[in-house]
Amino acid sequence: MKAKELNHPLITHKLSILRDKKTGTKEFRELIGEIAMFLCYEAMKDSKLNTVTIETPITKMETGRLDEDKYAFVPILRAGMGMLDGVIKVIPNAKIGHIGMYRDEITFEPVNYFFKVPKDIEKREVIILDPMLATGGSAIDAIELLKSKGVKKIKFLCIIAAPEGLKVVEEKYPDVEIYCGSIDDHLNENKYIVPGLGDAGDRIFGTK
Ligand code: PRP
Ligand code: URA
Repeated sequence: MKAKELNHPLITHKLSILRDKKTGTKEFRELIGEIAMFLCYEAMKDSKLNTVTIETPITKMETGRLDEDKYAFVPILRAGMGMLDGVIKVIPNAKIGHIGMYRDEITFEPVNYFFKVPKDIEKREVIILDPMLATGGSAIDAIELLKSKGVKKIKFLCIIAAPEGLKVVEEKYPDVEIYCGSIDDHLNENKYIVPGLGDAGDRIFGTK
């Protein structure tokens, strides 16, 4: 499947504030959470519902309910943590795993430093969270780790993606559905996304 770019005036509006270098940490963090919520909404479009019978104050009815125990969110540390607040509002009973990874500043290769996921991860649909998909190296390593644990259905949510990184991930893992707020123009010589938003982790946590 080709990556799905959310094409919506509200997302463009929120991204315009997020990308602005004058936007401070508090607002940046809030916007990351809000856009993540919209991404999750879109990514859950194919969800299967269980049929339940409920009673409204007026009458009995048959309707659908999500089995929230079938899902896990896995943020890639650090920046992916910024998206967790938003998505956990949508599926509050999902379990949460963590993958610790940073991109080496010289080689741009991901360095893996932590991996902890729910015991029954192979039975769950896993939704990976990372605001930036640049070269795609971190996404590929995260997907590989989860597949090695037996995970069969994986979705990847990012706020901004670079076409170069998307191509690599899509070619290697055509079964992984990717949802992004924006597919930007290109990567610069330091493998930062252009126009992008700068360093997502530093802007979420105020570390620069
Ligand atoms: C950023 C981002 C992704 C990665 C994307 O993390 O959050 O994990 O870079 O780059 P790639 O597609 O080229 O692998 P970073 O290394 O800045 O770590 P941080 O989240 O701790 O700030
Ligand atoms: N990581 C970021 O935080 N920003 C980029 O543009 C690329 C990688």
